[in-house]
Amino acid sequence: MTRYILGIESSCDDTSAAVVDEHFRVLAVRTVSQTNLHALFGGVIPEIAARNHIAWIFPTIDKALSESGVAPTDLSAVAVTNYPGLLGSLLVGVGAAKGLAIGWGKPLIAVNHLEAHIHSPFLGGRERPKPPYLALVVSGGHTTLMAVGEGSAASVLAETMDDAAGEAYDKIAKIAKLSYPGGPAIDKIAQTGDPSRYDLPHLMRSGRYKDTLAFSFSGIKSAVKRILEEEGDTVALADLMAGFQSRIVELIERRLTAAWEQKAYTALVVAGGVAANSAVRKMAQEFTGKRRVPLYLPELTYCQDNGAMVAAAAFPKLDRGDLASLDLDVTATSRPQTK
Ligand code: KG4
Ligand code: ZN
Repeated sequence: MTRYILGIESSCDDTSAAVVDEHFRVLAVRTVSQTNLHALFGGVIPEIAARNHIAWIFPTIDKALSESGVAPTDLSAVAVTNYPGLLGSLLVGVGAAKGLAIGWGKPLIAVNHLEAHIHSPFLGGRERPKPPYLALVVSGGHTTLMAVGEGSAASVLAETMDDAAGEAYDKIAKIAKLSYPGGPAIDKIAQTGDPSRYDLPHLMRSGRYKDTLAFSFSGIKSAVKRILEEEGDTVALADLMAGFQSRIVELIERRLTAAWEQKAYTALVVAGGVAANSAVRKMAQEFTGKRRVPLYLPELTYCQDNGAMVAAAAFPKLDRGDLASLDLDVTATSRPQTK
């Protein structure tokens, strides 16, 4: 009999639920985005996010379940993101998942949000790469490079030392008075610009972090902010945004290159909100093309946070009996909390 998992995601500002089968086919996915609410502030306000998750979590789960045609009795488990993320937001999803697991008498599975993103390109039933493969999650909250081994176990190779890539996009877009979230707005305008017009710093090409795998975007953020403040309305915005984007993509490519030299990886996965970026996608295609290895990029709809990737990431855990207990807690940072 085919197994199905209900996946619940509420770690940031998207309330999402999905039913996915063991072949990673998505039977239904429903996401309520709070983007318009947070746009007023130019960033996610945790208190507002948590309150809206409370309002939407059960209607969203209800809709996804009824649309999937799968009865709760036919589910193999209820899976939920329990870290990393905003604590108030995570607690809403975890509370809901616990209630449903108790009520339906189903196992509860705790999922790391980064591992969920890594599974997003496999949704729809695409064949998965053989381990070990290299995975990069680039989003509004994370810029994390991981080596993925047997059983989908992911070990972190490097993270950002300051902002996540998407956060840098959002902050610069706010200063440049572009729409929120900033990533898509900058991506669009950058495509019409000349990246070489402004003399912008190359990120971490020299200095003590040169030979590490770590990321830092504060240098490019400060440089672009200074130009925006100095030039005001006379700034050549498309050129500046093109330069900003090219420096970010250049650092990501340099880190992928260095990580790739350390191990015989079979494939590259790039996931998370910034994996929707046109320049990131192009670079990743060229990177894997040159090395003749497969590239796994999520469909655009699965780049953003969603319950389907949570359900997919729960299957390897179900297979090895890695179930959570009802005292499951949440954690803001990348440290696990999977009792
Ligand atoms: O994965 P996601 O939905 O949420 C987090 O877990 O953070 O990612 C949202 C982030 C935002 O910072 C947004 O600006 C960025 O992804 N983003 C993009 C693009 N589309 C979304 N950044 C660059 N280019 C894009 N096309
Ligand atoms: Zn995410």
